[in-house]
Amino acid sequence: NNNWEYIKTEVAGEGKNVAVITLNRPKALNALCNGLMKELSTALQQYGRDSSIAAIVLTGSEKAFAAGADIKEMVGNTYSQCIQGNFLNDWTEVARTQKPIIAAVNGYALGGGCELAMMCDIIYAGDKAKFGQPEIALGTIPGAGGTQRLTRVVGKSKAMEMCLTGNMIGAQEAEKLGLASKVVPADQLLGEAVKLGEKIGTHSNLIVQLCKESVNTAYETTLQEGLKFERRTFHATFSTADRKEGMTAFAEKRPAKFTNE
Ligand code: CAA
Repeated sequence: NNNWEYIKTEVAGEGKNVAVITLNRPKALNALCNGLMKELSTALQQYGRDSSIAAIVLTGSEKAFAAGADIKEMVGNTYSQCIQGNFLNDWTEVARTQKPIIAAVNGYALGGGCELAMMCDIIYAGDKAKFGQPEIALGTIPGAGGTQRLTRVVGKSKAMEMCLTGNMIGAQEAEKLGLASKVVPADQLLGEAVKLGEKIGTHSNLIVQLCKESVNTAYETTLQEGLKFERRTFHATFSTADRKEGMTAFAEKRPAKFTNE
């Protein structure tokens, strides 16, 4: 589909197995209007179904990953419209993606932009990246996970500080806090994110999906429930051809050939 209005999509990596989705609304610093989020959801669903794709990279421009929900679009929203339209509910598609999704963040990731990055599995930050939840200055609060995901990642004190002041943090601090897993010079960011996707793609897509689900479970349930889920999922890998192949290949001192079965 090359008829996107607000995003660009391409397939990257030596094996052409890493999808790159670029938010492409430069005039509004990639503000996440309805149309953009619809296209993003559609692209994610398409790549989700495409068995040639092992991982997805989500990125923006050098200046902005995304400057948040579209303020001009929602300025006239009423409470009843928000309730009845379940405002922002359709954003969850990003968090529902079964394949690994890497956010490559250059420039501003503010409000919904920061929340969108946090819906991804791994954040790589360009060295000029800035993260923040400035909703408080608009008389509202984060609505797509900012008070929840951020708090689980960076802890209460830092999340409170960010959400109550609206102050931004830079890439280095984001890495120190565990919000980003790596800081990369801005011009190398996309390449590094694609490489990460390719590395993940050398493994069994099937097992990667199970592993992602298990890590996510750590955020969604108690430790006991999570450990139980992990153990059962670990057991389940023994029903797959890829588990057998992976261990056999190790024993035979040869590279594994995974079939995603
Ligand atoms: N919504 C709509 N338009 C936006 C926008 C947003 N979130 N962010 C930037 N833009 C637009 C600006 O209005 C401007 O448009 P015009 O040229 O038509 O005036 C254009 O993008 C460029 O922006 P600036 O001129 O402001 O650029 P700057 O370099 O001076 O400042 C910035 C950059 C600090 C990121 C500033 O644009 C800014 O503060 N943006 C808003 C950030 C924000 O508050 N985000 C939270 C949104 S609420 C939310 O996300 C709710 C939620 O939880 C889901």
